[in-house]
Amino acid sequence: MTVAPAAKAARRPRPLSLTVRVALLLSAVAVATFLAVGAYLYQTLASQMAERDDIELIGKVAQIRRILAELPSPQAIVQNPRPLTEALFGHDDFMLSVKGADGASLLRTSLTSRPLPQVERVPPRRALTLADVHDWTPAMGTGRMVSAVGLVGADGQPVQITLARERSDRLRIMRDYAVDLFVALCVGATLAALLGYAIVRHSMRRLRSVIGKANAINTSRLNTRLSVADAPVELREMGQAFNAMLDRLEDGVQRLSGFAADLAHDLRTPVNTLMMETQVALSRPRTVQEYQALLASNSEEYERLARMIENTLFLARVDNAQLGLRREAVDLRAELQRIHDYFEILADDVGVRLMVDAPPLRAEVDPVLLQRAVGNLVSNAIRHTPAGGEVGLSARATANGVELAVSNTGPGIAAEHLPHIFDRYYRADPARSDHAHSAGLGLSIVRAIMELHGGKIRVDSMPGASTVFYLSFEKTQNI
Ligand SMILES: Nc1ncnc2c1ncn2[C@@H]1O[C@H](COP(=O)(O)OP(=O)(O)OP(=O)(O)O)[C@@H](O)[C@H]1O
Ligand SMILES: [Mg+2]
Repeated sequence: MTVAPAAKAARRPRPLSLTVRVALLLSAVAVATFLAVGAYLYQTLASQMAERDDIELIGKVAQIRRILAELPSPQAIVQNPRPLTEALFGHDDFMLSVKGADGASLLRTSLTSRPLPQVERVPPRRALTLADVHDWTPAMGTGRMVSAVGLVGADGQPVQITLARERSDRLRIMRDYAVDLFVALCVGATLAALLGYAIVRHSMRRLRSVIGKANAINTSRLNTRLSVADAPVELREMGQAFNAMLDRLEDGVQRLSGFAADLAHDLRTPVNTLMMETQVALSRPRTVQEYQALLASNSEEYERLARMIENTLFLARVDNAQLGLRREAVDLRAELQRIHDYFEILADDVGVRLMVDAPPLRAEVDPVLLQRAVGNLVSNAIRHTPAGGEVGLSARATANGVELAVSNTGPGIAAEHLPHIFDRYYRADPARSDHAHSAGLGLSIVRAIMELHGGKIRVDSMPGASTVFYLSFEKTQNI
């Protein structure tokens, strides 16, 4: 089953807006940061609390040891356990067991219901350290305990002291703390997302104004430009690129409308001539000879029109990149000789000498387009060379390719015209140009052909003396 493109497009999820993306990203960063900081704080608090508890535990054992030292005998513990139980006053979670050297129980606080495990006992007279505190598993949760030998009375009778503590209250505190951290994390991430959304939306205002301006631009309002001076750096670059694009578009549209105007103007002249001649001829009866003369004259105009249309089409195809280049290894000397032979009769007619000066040279070019380019230059040269002058065709190898030159003696081209002669419909001296043969397209076609080849065209002209057009082709890999 085939799916219609519209249906496919409808099914594709819409990409998230930049604002939402930044907001989500900010909130993800906030979650990661809160998680890392929260875990660190939780860990620090847990270890600090455990250490404080252990210090308290060994402090209590030291205190119990001191109390025991002041008692006359182990039996005194049984008779009066108060000094020891008072030492644990306020610490309901502490469990104390004191046993005599023979293992008989001398004291057990009420909570000590389960037998405490045997752990290594700290010998008498050695002070307790944190390393003496061990883990212990009560009925619920976890616990810590320490076991030491205490000495009773002046004669130092040993008794076993075991002090343990449940940590369930501590675990509860830590659990509450973790819940608080989690709530803070959720609130923080939400706040970061909302703030991010608001900030990005605010910053996007500039972008929206750019979009507004872009929407207002059409071919008749191409002179609008974005003001980039006070824009943020990121938008400034975009604005500059946008303005540069508008410059190019404006230039292109101007040239296009100029081109259309010139084309219309140049087509109008021959069409008007044809119209007038035909109307005059039809105004009264004519002889066959007169009709023949009219048709012969019209035929010339038709030829000119046809050539103009063909040239304009050629340029349009080059512009639209529809013209393919067919490169071949071409013998340049033979090619120039062929052009020479083609134009020789025309040159002879106007008293111009046509010469070829080229060594054997090969280049990878499109032979048809090359003929057209050089042909246009030679036809211009012959037209602008006074009788008795010379037109030269030459070729030479250069450092990175080949260069063809078409030179002619004659009045040359004035400096002010040089920058324009390659423009479409430009004629240096329209008044003097032979209108029937000149449309001002020849050189723009030569330039277009050179651009297609990746080559260059340039001109040197000495007014009153000579003009030389150079076509340089860069070496292609397979020359
Ligand atoms: N060899 C030259 N000597 C003096 N002027 C030249 C020479 N070649 C070109 N020009 C000037 O440059 C202008 C542009 O030449 P281009 O070949 O584009 O147009 P054109 O010859 O007038 O018309 P088209 O070639 O379309 O029939 C010419 O009108 C002419 O004034
Ligand atoms: Mg020409």
